[in-house]
Amino acid sequence: MKLMSKYLDVEKIKEDFPIFQRKIGNNQLIYLDSASTSHKPISVLDSISNFYKLHNSNVHRGIYTLSEEATTLYEESRLKVANFIGANDNEIIFTHGTTESINMVAKSLFSSYLKKGDEIITTNLEHHSNFVPWQYLSKKYGLKLIIWEISKEGNLDLGKLENLITDKTKLIAVTHISNVLGTINPIDKIAKIAHKNNSLILIDGAQSVPHTQINVKELNIDILAFSGHKMLATTGIGVLYVKKDILDKIDPSSFGGGMISQVTQEDSMWAPIPWKFEAGTPNIEGAISISAAIDYLNKVGLNNIHNHEMQLSKYASDLLVKIPGLQLYGPNIKSGIISFNLGKIHPHDISTVLDTQGIAVRGGHHCCMPLMKSLCINGTTRASFYLYNTFEDIEYLSKFLLKVKEVFK
Ligand SMILES: Cc1ncc(COP(=O)(O)O)c(C=O)c1O
Repeated sequence: MKLMSKYLDVEKIKEDFPIFQRKIGNNQLIYLDSASTSHKPISVLDSISNFYKLHNSNVHRGIYTLSEEATTLYEESRLKVANFIGANDNEIIFTHGTTESINMVAKSLFSSYLKKGDEIITTNLEHHSNFVPWQYLSKKYGLKLIIWEISKEGNLDLGKLENLITDKTKLIAVTHISNVLGTINPIDKIAKIAHKNNSLILIDGAQSVPHTQINVKELNIDILAFSGHKMLATTGIGVLYVKKDILDKIDPSSFGGGMISQVTQEDSMWAPIPWKFEAGTPNIEGAISISAAIDYLNKVGLNNIHNHEMQLSKYASDLLVKIPGLQLYGPNIKSGIISFNLGKIHPHDISTVLDTQGIAVRGGHHCCMPLMKSLCINGTTRASFYLYNTFEDIEYLSKFLLKVKEVFK
């Protein structure tokens, strides 16, 4: 009997995503790599082509109808993003993605907040985007990088954090949801510990903002980074949220047009926030696509999406663990991301064989080499779910993993 989601009408949702009309060879596409990037509904695709067909021009520059329309669309998107995460619109900076958001804020924090001898805590669960910038800063400028290590099950133990934090800790940089293990970190509790010790908290929301309702004020997050392309919008657009009182104090990290209010030969004055952090022509279509993506996500309901994915990951764990030789990683309760190895078969080989059946999964280190090292492996195969995945997708995955085993017997 076909299992149906209690939370979403997935068949109907799939009709909104043109990509699911295509085939891979003779097979229907089964896309299990949304942690890498998501597909786009027709409303998002339309928002982009409408922008170019009807309103194309630069923002904040021209005093003419097209430019005013483009500016309105762009700034409305900012407000939409702000409402989506419970922020104010002047706390939202458009970037190119999570990676750029974190790099940008790292540079700004370093030039106006961090100094030699300060300590930064991050974890061995992080994507390189939330690890390498801190490692680089620490090495280059004499900061101390402290690694909060996960437990055997793949969780972060708050007791350990209490032992690591000192009066020199200036920043705790941690992911909300692991892109490998699906671990959901207790952000509210981490924020409390950070603030009790006068530290800032930065959250990598790349894997959480697209999948679960986040309110930055309720969670008391100082800094949040996420990417549009993982939440139904286009590539090349991302978001950096920073609390207003921090934004007011830190310097921009990128300089040029759009971010100034006055320039003389001797000096420059910055534009008000958030524009002082947006130098140059922004990704206007990307920002507009995020707005359309948020409309779509709100229509479906983030709680429904989260519950649906939790259901899928439980189903997948229960099914895959029955395959002889398959090892699952990460905690029992996880988001819609599962990682596994199948005997000694290389994850790239698993992905290649699954692709012959139209199944797209990701194999490798997932930009988490420190995590791989701590798990004593080189990589995993990862299946990640979103609102367009079904129980049937997981049954296919399980069925064809058995075929993979046959091929590599
Ligand atoms: C947890 C996490 N952080 C950061 C990133 C980097 O995102 P982007 O490549 O969109 O900048 C990813 C991408 O997979 C991720 O999963």
